[in-house]
Amino acid sequence: MSEQEVLYDVTDGIATITINRPTKYNALNTNVRAAMSDFLKQAEDDPTVRVVILTGAGEKAFAAGADITGFPGLNSKEIREPAKQGQDLSVYIESMSKPVIAAVNGFALGGGCELAMACDIRYASGNARFGQPEILLGIIPGYGGTVRLPRIVGLGRAKELVFTGDQINAEEAYRIGLVNKVFESIEALHEGVKELASKLVEKPGVAIKMAKQSLNNAWQQNLSDSLAFELDVFCQTFDTEDKEEGVAAFLEKRKATFKHK
Ligand code: COA
Repeated sequence: MSEQEVLYDVTDGIATITINRPTKYNALNTNVRAAMSDFLKQAEDDPTVRVVILTGAGEKAFAAGADITGFPGLNSKEIREPAKQGQDLSVYIESMSKPVIAAVNGFALGGGCELAMACDIRYASGNARFGQPEILLGIIPGYGGTVRLPRIVGLGRAKELVFTGDQINAEEAYRIGLVNKVFESIEALHEGVKELASKLVEKPGVAIKMAKQSLNNAWQQNLSDSLAFELDVFCQTFDTEDKEEGVAAFLEKRKATFKHK
């Protein structure tokens, strides 16, 4: 497997995973999906990593979706495994104990939009464009697009995007809540994402993990089950060293230093 199609870097507690097929608009082929999966697991297992950034190489695309060159002649049985590989990536991102930030530096279409939607926080550059254009190929989103998009932007907007295959620009994506923040340039985007990641590196790791689990759980479950889950994980944070440190720091009017324990 050539892992140069995906780059991996760890600096100051931040793992950056970069899809690196810029001439193909970072289209997701089997190798890219496999390498991304490996690097996400590496980041999850590395105790020095506190935050993960997912982005695309170049100035054109975050990822323009699944690699369409692999589609001709594929039937329903043959597409199932690659599609499952894409869905599994999105599920894994959500299951990770660490925050994953999508730095959307251009087109986030199809599987690219779906991967971004699986990330915890999405920041975008002004040239970013989002969409689920699968309908234009006679197919539908298959990495969770029909499931996560309506939960993020509402059913009516999701149906419009999925039925038409239309792209929306970064401002519109911000307006409908698909991205948290828009930056003028790609440089400003990477700066802004780094600033956010550095802020999150400092936060108590166990509490971040519990908060992510509870928020994701509440996204899927009913109110009473979600409240019961929140109560459990809230109580668990009281057994951490970081809770003692955070509370002591507040009372002593100093900055807390967390050990992520
Ligand atoms: N799969 C494979 N190759 C892709 C791709 C994809 N999803 N998206 C872009 N590419 C390739 C193009 O084939 C082209 O390669 P080439 O230079 O070897 O011909 C290169 O990336 C640049 O794309 P191009 O179409 O020339 O750029 P553009 O600026 O005119 O358009 C897009 C950009 C993203 C709008 C257009 O490429 C596109 O619609 N891509 C497909 C998006 C899609 O349907 N995704 C869902 C797939 S299920």
